[in-house]
Amino acid sequence: MTYNKVTVEDIDVKGKKVLVRCDFNVPLDAEGNITDENRIVGALPTIKYLIENGAKVILCSHMGKPKGEPVPSLSLAPVAKSLSEKLGKEVVFAADDNVVGENAKAAVAAMKDGDVVLLQNTRYRKEETKNEKNFSEELASLADLFVNDAFGTAHRAHCSNVGVSEILKPAAAGYLIQKEIEFLGNAVNDPVRPLVAVLGGSKVSSKISVIENLLDKVDKLIIGGGMAYTFEAAMGKKTGDSLLEEDYIDFAKKMLEKGKDKIVLPIDTVVAKEFKNDADAKVVEGDIEDGWMGLDIGPKSVELFSEVLKTAKTVVWNGPMGVFEMPNFAKGTNAIAKVLADIDATTIIGGGDSVAAVNQAGLGDKMSHISTGGGASMEFLEGKVLPGIAALTDK
Ligand code: 3PG
Repeated sequence: MTYNKVTVEDIDVKGKKVLVRCDFNVPLDAEGNITDENRIVGALPTIKYLIENGAKVILCSHMGKPKGEPVPSLSLAPVAKSLSEKLGKEVVFAADDNVVGENAKAAVAAMKDGDVVLLQNTRYRKEETKNEKNFSEELASLADLFVNDAFGTAHRAHCSNVGVSEILKPAAAGYLIQKEIEFLGNAVNDPVRPLVAVLGGSKVSSKISVIENLLDKVDKLIIGGGMAYTFEAAMGKKTGDSLLEEDYIDFAKKMLEKGKDKIVLPIDTVVAKEFKNDADAKVVEGDIEDGWMGLDIGPKSVELFSEVLKTAKTVVWNGPMGVFEMPNFAKGTNAIAKVLADIDATTIIGGGDSVAAVNQAGLGDKMSHISTGGGASMEFLEGKVLPGIAALTDK
């Protein structure tokens, strides 16, 4: 899917109230501290541009799943604090259980050019996830223009992205959405070749559409992690007590047939007796005996995958190579992260666990692009239309 949307630079924002949809759905610890600020950092270029160009900036986002009612632990107040620090200016938090209630309206009415207001969690309103018109209209009534920069939410059709885009026109793309489309879009639609995709994670079943879509586009498809065992089984190998999705063995067979010159599977495995970090472990090649389960790729697989990756000019990585949360089974994932950090290629980390793995290895800043979308980047790689982006005004 290719997009050519009006951007924030195409609209005249001076003196205008601009509603900006961000994805501030960030993880919080038990004390309400933000534990990963990537999505906040990712939103800064658009916010700064709007401030510098004299807009009145009204930010909105969802957080978590409050299911249409106020849930204090899912308030966006911590995000307002973090944004104020990062921007070096106060971001007024419009604490308002109704999201667009009296407090929010008063906060917006008091704005001067260059001011920033953050609305409360849009999912405090039950209409939000159903994209119901009344809440879209309430949100739109606060502003003159709309900018969507919430790539992480682009696979959802909510009032605060799709609904508002249909009312406030032109609806423009912010810098983060543009950057995500550029990296992910170029990688799948117009890559500098060779294009190598690395897919991992536990389940084939959750990656069927990604495998199908990418297999047509890539030069090589490396498969590791728990999902590799279903492919091993499809090749007639024994997988012991490893994760196996029997219902997907036929699918794996089909993909192996279709992608026989493309698919690269592990050649050795780190197996353990139990699913715990200090379990008895060893490296095996070929069949895995009963009583042992594969928890990481082995050193020969790392070598094989590295050789393939070194030929690449573009790499897309989604899903770890093993149980990277346990240090004894993180070696394969860390080694692949290191190869990606060192090669001369555009490296794109497609959301979720692989982002956590790259950051855990301390190599985040060595990648060309780390997507802020988990589900959204996955759907992009599946070739699906992302409603949040599709709803923006075409150039
Ligand atoms: C995400 O974290 O993937 C987005 O913010 C969307 O959140 P959701 O899965 O709760 O809709």
